[in-house]
Amino acid sequence: MPAAPSPKLSAAPDEQGGPSPDILAAFEAAKGFMPTDEGLALYAAAVEAGRLGLPLLEVGTYCGRSTILLADAARRAGVTALTVDHHRGSEEQQPGWEYHDPETVDPEIGLMDTLPTFRRTLHRAGLEEHVVALVGRSPQIAALWNTPLGLVFVDGGHTDEHAGADYAGWAPHVAVGGLLVIHDVFPDPVDEFTGQAPYRVYLRALASGEFTGVSVTGSLRVLRRCGTAAPAQG
Ligand SMILES: C[S@@+](CC[C@H](N)C(=O)[O-])C[C@H]1O[C@@H](n2cnc3c(N)ncnc32)[C@H](O)[C@@H]1O
Repeated sequence: MPAAPSPKLSAAPDEQGGPSPDILAAFEAAKGFMPTDEGLALYAAAVEAGRLGLPLLEVGTYCGRSTILLADAARRAGVTALTVDHHRGSEEQQPGWEYHDPETVDPEIGLMDTLPTFRRTLHRAGLEEHVVALVGRSPQIAALWNTPLGLVFVDGGHTDEHAGADYAGWAPHVAVGGLLVIHDVFPDPVDEFTGQAPYRVYLRALASGEFTGVSVTGSLRVLRRCGTAAPAQG
């Protein structure tokens, strides 16, 4: 059977510099967890960071909802979006947990596999050529990484172990003037639904003195790397 051609979505930004209605509709139609207001804040950060001419990296692809926005911002900037995931799901997405979606289970092996859905999402949005998917564990990939990044978006595992390792592994690669974006930051334990590890990572970034707060939208926090020193390599 011939492959379905990638649709030609209109990619012209809207009047405020946000995503085109087609790209926004693709984001909203994709499986995932990010509300639209946070998606628009992520998009604005990615467009701004794209001006550095460096790749934009996401930890936590899932089915590609937020990746659509990073990919479109990368396309506009002429850079590449990178997205890291082992595609086996986070703790709260496993069978029996609140955020489990049975459609994400590979029936042959009985484990979650969000990679096929992610690939379909990106194909339907016409953005495949702007994205490199890195399939594996975030700390293992970060340990091999040696390229400065314009933006790092942390939306992977929500335990202290995983969120802390994502920060330790990827934040050093954010270039001076680049942005660190953290999702699911809940300062009040009453609002938490997947734990407060991302909030602790946010506090850690601020306390390091290496990042300064830029914006708050829902549970999304944008920080900028300050200073003039070159980012750590390797
Ligand atoms: C909250 S979801 C990401 C949601 C996505 N950004 C969106 O907008 O829909 C978290 C993802 O992180 C992945 N993940 C969790 N821990 C990881 C790790 N240590 N390494 C790689 N991926 C991980 C899970 O497989 C899951 O797909």
